[in-house]
Amino acid sequence: MEVIIQPSPVAAAKVAARIIEDLIRRKPSAVLGLATGGTPLGLYQELIRLHREKGLDFSGITTFNLDEYVGISPEHPASYHRFMQENLFDHVNILPGNIHIPDGNTKDVPRFCAGYEEQILKAGGIDLQVLGIGHDGHVGFNESTSSLVSRTRIKTLTEQTIAANQRFFSEGETVPHHVITMGVGTIMEARTCLMLAFGEGKGQAVADMAEGPVTAMCPATALQMHRQTILIVDTPAASRLKRTAYYNHVYLNKPDFQKVSAFPVV
Ligand code: F6R
Repeated sequence: MEVIIQPSPVAAAKVAARIIEDLIRRKPSAVLGLATGGTPLGLYQELIRLHREKGLDFSGITTFNLDEYVGISPEHPASYHRFMQENLFDHVNILPGNIHIPDGNTKDVPRFCAGYEEQILKAGGIDLQVLGIGHDGHVGFNESTSSLVSRTRIKTLTEQTIAANQRFFSEGETVPHHVITMGVGTIMEARTCLMLAFGEGKGQAVADMAEGPVTAMCPATALQMHRQTILIVDTPAASRLKRTAYYNHVYLNKPDFQKVSAFPVV
């Protein structure tokens, strides 16, 4: 796993956006896996800026989002459909037909989930998956004790995740307890995983993920077994890492060919 420590979330978002820009320019038909929540907002703003000011072209891009709440409509202000429209898709030239987000209103959850997996395969697999991390180490909505080889399926959120996500809902409104999420195994098949984490509150999860033992108690640790994971954090989120001097040394002394991105385009 490559660990990149940046002084601020803005600086981290710029590094992440350059990696995605490089992928899109080299592979205009790239398949991106996308996340919601507070973490990727700066990245999406930077991608929008690159689209507007540098002509970054999303017209050939296909996207698959990690997750969606079960039982709320795509128009609901806290739905991940709305989140993605408002924070990225409305501002770039992506084709609506190329956007995939789990359908939280499906009448047949298992069938929908199997179909989502098939759509990912049909698109050629995910080139780069954007990820955030929960305070407890969840990725997507694969909560602690999720199978590390799980596929897209329904999950029940923990009290902690429900409380953390209450901020996206109106006062007094109940956060849905169920979600459809890509599995850890689905995420692991992305050719590159790009994980972002900011703030001291994420420090322990980041340290567990990068340096702790691989365990279903912290599903993000599965990424230690992934061939190309890039973890970009700000200084507070790096505060519990033990090997920061080494990570900084590696980043500052990269061979030129690795400076923008290290992954081959398939
Ligand atoms: C969102 C997702 C979640 C979040 C995680 C962190 O699509 O899959 O794993 O990335 O809960 O959320 P924030 O970024 O709001 O701290």
